[in-house]
Amino acid sequence: MRERQILFSRQQIEAKVKQLGEQIARDYHDKNLLVVGLLKGSFVFVADLMRAIDQKIVIEFMTTSSYHDAEDSTGRVEIVQDFNRDLSDFDVLIVDDIIDSGLTMKSVYELIRSRHPKSLKTCALLDKPSRRKVEFECDYVGFTIEDLFIVGYGLNYGDYYRNVDHIFVFVEENEK
Ligand code: IMP
Ligand code: MG
Repeated sequence: MRERQILFSRQQIEAKVKQLGEQIARDYHDKNLLVVGLLKGSFVFVADLMRAIDQKIVIEFMTTSSYHDAEDSTGRVEIVQDFNRDLSDFDVLIVDDIIDSGLTMKSVYELIRSRHPKSLKTCALLDKPSRRKVEFECDYVGFTIEDLFIVGYGLNYGDYYRNVDHIFVFVEENEK
């Protein structure tokens, strides 16, 4: 039997998002912030985070798809959908749900850097540093976690559970 074990409750996530939003607002108060959310995973987090940042923001989305989970060890990250905007006037913050191998953030970071924004930083609600395949340090991290597959609050399992308002892990009954 599989059971759900709550890792972060809705209240814990809310408090963390508020704290991140306040920190970003302090750092960007005199800047021209453009948030790039990576779909699909980050859409719930981005929606809450941007409302926790009390200033003018421009928002764009990019859809990424990674092929590095299974047999492919080359770590290709495909940009399934891009956005079209001149970034030279913007301080860009890339936002994802979670950093695992680091391949997604690193390749998106390099792609956006090649478009010469005024500045470029990254933010992820969750970070699994022990899983890195490439070196990548994120500027704003909500929670640092162990090597666990987590679900909910935008994060999916077989494309389901993104709508769950907290973050959980599946545990086998006999593992408890
Ligand atoms: P990376 O490119 O390996 O860093 O993987 C980043 C992407 O993998 C994230 O944007 C998520 O969509 C997905 N991912 C990584 N770990 C998890 C997890 O524990 N649960 C759900 N999705 C995950
Ligand atoms: Mg993702």
